[in-house]
Amino acid sequence: MFSNEFIQEVKDKNDITDVISGYVGLKRSGRISKGLCPFHSEKTPSFTVYSDTASFYCFGCQTGGDVIGFIRKIENLDYAEAIKFLANRAGIPVVEDGRNDGLSQMRLRIREQNREAGRFFYRALYSPAGRQALDYFHSRGLTDETIRRFGLGWSPESWDGLSRHLGGLGYRKEEILAADLGYTSRNGGIIDRFRNRVMFPIIDLQGNVIAFGGRRFTDDIKGGKYVNTGDTLIYKKTNHLFAMNFAKNEKSGELILCEGYMDVIALHQAGFRNAVAALGTAVTQQQARLMAKYVKRVVLSQDGDEAGQRSIARSIPIMKEAGLDVRVLEITGAKDPDEFIKKYGPERFKRLLEGCANDIEYSIMRIEQQYDIGTDDGRLHYLQEVCDFLSSLGTLEQEVYSARIADKLKIEKSAVLSQTQASARRKRFQEQRQQFREMAQSTAGVGNRVNPERSAHLKGAIAEEAFLRLLLTHPELVAKAAGKIRPEEFVTEFDRRVYQQMLAITDEGEEVSVTMLAQQFSEGETAEIVRIVNSGEGRGTDDFDRLIEVIREESARPTPRDAARLSADELLKQMKRLKQKKS
Ligand code: CTP
Ligand code: MN
Repeated sequence: MFSNEFIQEVKDKNDITDVISGYVGLKRSGRISKGLCPFHSEKTPSFTVYSDTASFYCFGCQTGGDVIGFIRKIENLDYAEAIKFLANRAGIPVVEDGRNDGLSQMRLRIREQNREAGRFFYRALYSPAGRQALDYFHSRGLTDETIRRFGLGWSPESWDGLSRHLGGLGYRKEEILAADLGYTSRNGGIIDRFRNRVMFPIIDLQGNVIAFGGRRFTDDIKGGKYVNTGDTLIYKKTNHLFAMNFAKNEKSGELILCEGYMDVIALHQAGFRNAVAALGTAVTQQQARLMAKYVKRVVLSQDGDEAGQRSIARSIPIMKEAGLDVRVLEITGAKDPDEFIKKYGPERFKRLLEGCANDIEYSIMRIEQQYDIGTDDGRLHYLQEVCDFLSSLGTLEQEVYSARIADKLKIEKSAVLSQTQASARRKRFQEQRQQFREMAQSTAGVGNRVNPERSAHLKGAIAEEAFLRLLLTHPELVAKAAGKIRPEEFVTEFDRRVYQQMLAITDEGEEVSVTMLAQQFSEGETAEIVRIVNSGEGRGTDDFDRLIEVIREESARPTPRDAARLSADELLKQMKRLKQKKS
């Protein structure tokens, strides 16, 4: 669909480090930058961006690829859309070839169905059959004006009411399944995803309904408390915030981040129109970055229970990474903001907002709650843990808070500071050890799923990888390699396939690169290629012949299993051949 030159231009004009910095907080050191992986949850950064090879790799979850692969994954796009996305980002005009490709067509159909479904649920809520659901919303204090504004609704108590409605409008079964508005029944028919639930539409920043949450509203409704739309072609729950479509227009410079739909809706109704909710538990990096696009400060307004507090603890570092100033609201006398507003009114909530602690005060307070600082033992453990925490802060912050802690414990500030420094040293050491372990594991090929032969043929595989790396960094050598070593001579099947593809790409007059290879390999295989390109020291071109020799030797070497099968005579012959080669 796109020419290789076009793809190359798009890649050249989108510096990978630059693009990824829009999503992940990166720390640069030399040719590599590191950050917390956006694709799995981690505390120490394993996510690595290599500027020289224009690729990224996560040692923690083994995800990797080029800039196009990154955008595909993080924005949930297909290959062509990721290229368009990057072209737009770099201001390169996209030449449309007129035909509407299948996926964008499907996306459009999903968006339309969601809009239809939203209308359908809203109408049902105000139909006679929706009485009980409407009463439920009213009993929770929502006005009809709020219900309309949020487009709330009711999914009727029927197996396929919505599916039939959509079918009548011309939507095919696959389209309904792709929107996740229905699923396949045992006899091959279609069953509505949402049945007899009060419905909360999730709306994107452009005002499109993209997904739904459906809540049980009486005890006798089967299934979990919430049923949610799964990820679809237009929806990835980790990228969105509920009510952000409204909150983004507020001028307060601040967002209130709650846990639930009901909290957000109650807050909006009470005049706090900057409330949003993450659509799961802890905030993701993408959500934090989204907030940081619009505001400087976020007030975490989680439920008061242990789960809520845990989610605050996990969210704070992610929000700070995104450059947000974090405040934590302490709700007392109610389990969540919704209940608080109902019990004490908006005025009290406003005062709560004004008086809330910053994230550091909050964290120190949380540690303090765990110990009895009236006892020596309690003071000691408190000091240890609080210094552990201080060691993650900047020096200025360490100064300020160590003074406060020293005051509280009636000890010297220098004692707090030196304990903090000891903690910092220990942490650095642990981090280095962890990174070393990951590197060592990845070189040893522990758990290498893409190339399972690797650990049994380590010497050969390492030589192959060095050879492939050499070719990828010096594409002009591929033609020369073609005349010197055939793919069949490779030891491991995966490396052989990579080499084969390199030859094929070169044959077509193209230059080998991760991007070219990515089009021939799966996501996991591409990640492995990226790992290979970036591991080991940069090899000089003079290794060329030596590596070929090692690969050849290793592929001729009988494995222990082969050796057991061969007759003594054959084995002897093999060994002789190897020896001759060596001399
Ligand atoms: N949630 C979910 N699935 C669940 C439970 C919760 O998706 N099984 C999400 C929903 O987005 C929900 C949020 O987590 O809004 C918070 O959960 P909870 O506090 O249980 O729900 P509330 O929305 O506050 O509902 P209510 O006040 O009616 O109990
Ligand atoms: Mn609630």
